[in-house]
Amino acid sequence: MRKKIVAGNWKMNKNLQEGIALAQEVNNRVKALAPQNVTVIVGTPFIHLSEVNKVADVITVSAQNCAAEASGAYTGEVSAAMVASTGCKYVILGHSERRSYYGETDEILVKKVGHALENNLEIIFCVGEVLAEREAEKHFDIVKSQLSKGLFQLSTEQFAHIVIAYEPVWAIGTGKTATSAQAEEMHKFIRKTIAEKYGETTADNTTILYGGSCNSKNADELFSQPNVDGGLIGGASLKADDFMTIITARENHQ
Ligand code: PGA
Repeated sequence: MRKKIVAGNWKMNKNLQEGIALAQEVNNRVKALAPQNVTVIVGTPFIHLSEVNKVADVITVSAQNCAAEASGAYTGEVSAAMVASTGCKYVILGHSERRSYYGETDEILVKKVGHALENNLEIIFCVGEVLAEREAEKHFDIVKSQLSKGLFQLSTEQFAHIVIAYEPVWAIGTGKTATSAQAEEMHKFIRKTIAEKYGETTADNTTILYGGSCNSKNADELFSQPNVDGGLIGGASLKADDFMTIITARENHQ
């Protein structure tokens, strides 16, 4: 059975104290809920990783990025080794905001993925089309290209450390969610694409998350789809009540 995951992506929100408080509250409430089948992850800014890790005993901590180089004269960058040294277990790579605002190309992502795996980090790898690409019916081609150019250099063994997040860019932070049918259709396509490269077993074992205005109201419907294994949650992960509702929705859909 593949892992079911609800992951928060705090983006550039919460100062250190606010972040620790949020993580503490989520951790305590997840402990009380004691979900049997959901891994809960919080994706924090770099500055929070170490402190949040100390209060996270039932939740897992993720970074939102890491450097494309291993170490050295790269002012302002944070390496995969540094991320791992905080006790953090996951890293989000290829988020559409990184791709579009910071020029992260497939080639850069290949390097980041390599460094993350060398440092034993699990990767939440984001893919997704922009609105014009969907309207031109190119969304399947775009996602296939992001998967193959960013990830298909990996061995089967390495690919076991990848979680995919399908995030249609037109749905991120817009309040406009993909319908559950649109999400399921793309998730099925992603699983088929993985099967063609790595075989059915690997494809069946790969967790595929949906992201893009997933919230406390629509999570239940999205998670009812057989290929939607959970969510990557931006805005709604900043409020413990909303995030807990989403976690509970995932837990109830086993
Ligand atoms: P959103 O962000 O839930 O605020 O749309 C999702 C994401 O970008 O990961």
